[in-house]
Amino acid sequence: MTARTIQQLVQAHAVTEGAGVTVHRTIGTPALRNLDPFLMLDHFGSDNPDEYIAGFPDHPHRGFITFTYMLDGHMQHQDSMGNRGDLRAGGAQWMKAASGVIHSEMPQQTDGLMRGFQLWINLPASEKMADPAYQEFSPEAIPEVRNDGERVRVLLGEYAGQRGVIEDPTTEVQYLDIALDAQRSFSHTLRKDDSAFVYVFEGSATLGPTALPQHSLAALSPGDSLEITAGSNGARFILVSGKAVREPIVQYGPFVMNTRDEIEQAMRDYRDNQLVQKKAAMRGT
Ligand code: CO
Repeated sequence: MTARTIQQLVQAHAVTEGAGVTVHRTIGTPALRNLDPFLMLDHFGSDNPDEYIAGFPDHPHRGFITFTYMLDGHMQHQDSMGNRGDLRAGGAQWMKAASGVIHSEMPQQTDGLMRGFQLWINLPASEKMADPAYQEFSPEAIPEVRNDGERVRVLLGEYAGQRGVIEDPTTEVQYLDIALDAQRSFSHTLRKDDSAFVYVFEGSATLGPTALPQHSLAALSPGDSLEITAGSNGARFILVSGKAVREPIVQYGPFVMNTRDEIEQAMRDYRDNQLVQKKAAMRGT
């Protein structure tokens, strides 16, 4: 067994997105352009409505998957083809934009805490122009594993024999939300060559001798085993891993393709109202 260690620590950068929402970005910044297959990780978390109320009005995506995990608050997703979904605290949405989706993500609250993550997962060339698809699950549908001093929510992939309800067939992403009591250790086996990262968002933790600062992303070295220990106030973090796509990435805002020509095509399609080619199939509760 080879233990995973920290390859790079990336401090979150505050970025303004949508109509004026403050997000804290780690993957997708100059310090870490991408962590193949992951193109972007945004953490949003604020109890100040001014920082989220404007939401994310209609915008396009092509060539990848967005995965949204709500920790607190309530957002409504709506797309240009009539799909509608509610994202509530503890629920998750996997949206394969692929050939094209135009959607909005708008807060359904005027005060209180809004907190969560959005991860962009790249698609290989063979899937970039495939039909879009959604999977959206309510908080109650997400499996949870509880052991002494440990609670693991399985968003994608598997932990302790519990399989997540959302399937990510192409890059086989695993996405766990892990809460540990003080000084508790968490161990997990990962596929050796998968890209993987940890993001601590409550309390503090250590990986071997190294502290994992809150609101920083730790990109991990290859390896098949991982052990993380919570600090004196406990810890809560996401652990995410997946198979690298290993293809050229050409990105222009919400379009992520393999070549410049494909990006120019996406811009033409968007301008000519041809971006959305198929209505997305929906699966969930
Ligand atoms: Co979006």
